[in-house]
Amino acid sequence: MVARPPTESVVPAAPSLLTPFAEPAAGWTRRHLLDVDTFSRGEIAQVLDTAGAMAEVLSRKVARTPALNGVTIFNLFYEASTRTRSSFELAGKILGADVINVSGSGSSIEKGESLIETLNTIAAVGADAVVMRHGASGAPWLAARTIPGHIINAGDGQHAHPTQALLDAFVLREEFGDLTGRQIVIVGDILHSRVARSNIWSLTTLGAQVTLVAPRPLLPAALAPGASQPEHPLGLPNVRVCADLDDAIVGADAVMALRIQNERLRGKLLPSTAEYARRYQITAERMSQAAPHAIVMHPGPMNEGVEIAVDVAHSPQSRIEAQVSAGLAVRMAILFLLIRGSA
Ligand code: CP
Repeated sequence: MVARPPTESVVPAAPSLLTPFAEPAAGWTRRHLLDVDTFSRGEIAQVLDTAGAMAEVLSRKVARTPALNGVTIFNLFYEASTRTRSSFELAGKILGADVINVSGSGSSIEKGESLIETLNTIAAVGADAVVMRHGASGAPWLAARTIPGHIINAGDGQHAHPTQALLDAFVLREEFGDLTGRQIVIVGDILHSRVARSNIWSLTTLGAQVTLVAPRPLLPAALAPGASQPEHPLGLPNVRVCADLDDAIVGADAVMALRIQNERLRGKLLPSTAEYARRYQITAERMSQAAPHAIVMHPGPMNEGVEIAVDVAHSPQSRIEAQVSAGLAVRMAILFLLIRGSA
């Protein structure tokens, strides 16, 4: 028997730790994720497929892959967050990146440093990518013009929350496969909801029919019922506005409740929480009118007992925890595609 050369390892190589992320992200050309309004169906599918591969990494005994070794990611959060911030932090770490958190409190933002100066500082320290949440709509677009790194919008004002929309699409695709013709009801504070705005773009691009339900004060003026109401709000043929949740929910495949954003309402627009709950809360009785296979979603954090009944939030129909779990895989996918793509 020929002796094994001493240089040859008897320990098998571990390609599974690297694959499928050892190569650059083929076919991905976007540098930033600012919103999903210009995403094609193919691009959304690529994110969701990549997230599926990331979910496989997460299922491994050692859930780590060195796809972003040597990359520095800053989480720059001017507004509170639990899900988005923690999942982006974990996503970066699982992919082997260095992740640094900067928030309003405890940083020089507290001393009055401007957004642009903070961005320039982060860039000078060596940020390859900045995950950014800011109260001002459009702030990530300013960042993308200001510094050279990749910018990921983790929620800007009342405008967009693209990773929430993508994780919602991931959960819906897991549930239903192709979303063409699926009836999705989004109910609640549409006026202040960046989640609703981004979901409208992604869900309609994927072929779903979206029904928006809200009391009139919580609808954007462009969507409020009236003489000037366009036949298709936002120019999108598969979006409609319905004043009555009991009408809208009949036969729905998925019902997404939005949080009443008390911090943005400041006591205005919604004089009575009890009246709101009576007309717009997702209850078991209302869900009985949806399709038998219907699921309930909520981006969180929830006001249980206001926009969603406690028993519904924790029922077998609820996919609220699945949404949080999907957030990790989807954010890993976004970091990988943007940073290892060709742009
Ligand atoms: N859905 C969402 O953005 O939650 P967080 O504010 O906790 O990040």
